[in-house]
Amino acid sequence: MVPTGEVDPAKITPEWLYHSRRQFLKAAGFLGASALLAAACGREEPITVPGEAQSLTPGARTAGKVDELGDQANTYEDITQYNNYYEFTTDKAGVAGLSKGFATSPWTVEVSGLVKKPTTFTIEDLLKFPQQERIYRLRCVEAWSMVIPWQGFPLNLVLQQVEPLPEAKFVRFETLLDADQMPGQKSRLYPWPYQEGLRLDEAMHDLTILATGMYGKPVLAQNGAPIRLVVPWKYGFKSIKSMIKIELVQDQPGTFWSTIAPEEYGFYSNVNPEVDHPRWSQATERRIGETGRRKTMMFNGYAEQVASLYKGMDLRANY
Ligand code: MTE
Repeated sequence: MVPTGEVDPAKITPEWLYHSRRQFLKAAGFLGASALLAAACGREEPITVPGEAQSLTPGARTAGKVDELGDQANTYEDITQYNNYYEFTTDKAGVAGLSKGFATSPWTVEVSGLVKKPTTFTIEDLLKFPQQERIYRLRCVEAWSMVIPWQGFPLNLVLQQVEPLPEAKFVRFETLLDADQMPGQKSRLYPWPYQEGLRLDEAMHDLTILATGMYGKPVLAQNGAPIRLVVPWKYGFKSIKSMIKIELVQDQPGTFWSTIAPEEYGFYSNVNPEVDHPRWSQATERRIGETGRRKTMMFNGYAEQVASLYKGMDLRANY
């Protein structure tokens, strides 16, 4: 008899089952350590993930990661080559090229307004906050979605440090204004600089992060380098890129998209399959890299954590 522990599973399991199990484990990230070890040993074989036509480049090995629902993270290529960043261009495939060389150093973020201790943080200061990984779904208002492994830290760590005054009720965020570097800002069609806002309790929620990294590398320009907001239960346009200013204010601030088309883009912008955009349904979405459509989840699947923030509110009126 062969002692347990020395059994080669390939010998006692039908071959197809053994291989598909390994594929599953790989996709679910359980074989991540051995994949990384293989990389450390200098083996650069691409990993093929089930359901993905393309194989992942060595830089995207960690795409074996899954979010808390078991959804596979998108590839590094998906995330870095298909972007919304109107400061560069409205062409999603063109942002990566046009943002090459975008200067992210020196970089500061001014935190001011209704706070006891207004502070200007350098990017180096911000990188000293404990960085952690968060694998979040991003649901764009245009009804596509991605799963992105971010590195960053809760925005509330910064807010606590500056000590909001009792009158502070909202937080306003602003992107860099620099048309020499960001050609899209030459267009007069848009109200530059891009700005966004959250209610203070939304901003203080632990799910709300400032992201500095992606897939274990610094955030690239097309994704909002060197630092961007990520609010996973809201449509992607709330997650403002390349921010330079955070201001605590008393009144609900204007936002880029609600200034352009207030009937289409509200202040709250919570992902809500029951409230359609005036020009298209929000009931389903296309996950980049997949062919079919998925049902969109209330609050993008984060209802358990955030629904209480909106208790008693009419979410049709506050879209
Ligand atoms: N931030 C700025 N400054 N400018 C933008 O055009 N686009 C938003 C958001 N943040 C945008 C922005 C939209 S519409 C989406 S869907 C996400 O960024 C896309 O983020 P990603 O390109 O990293 O996937």
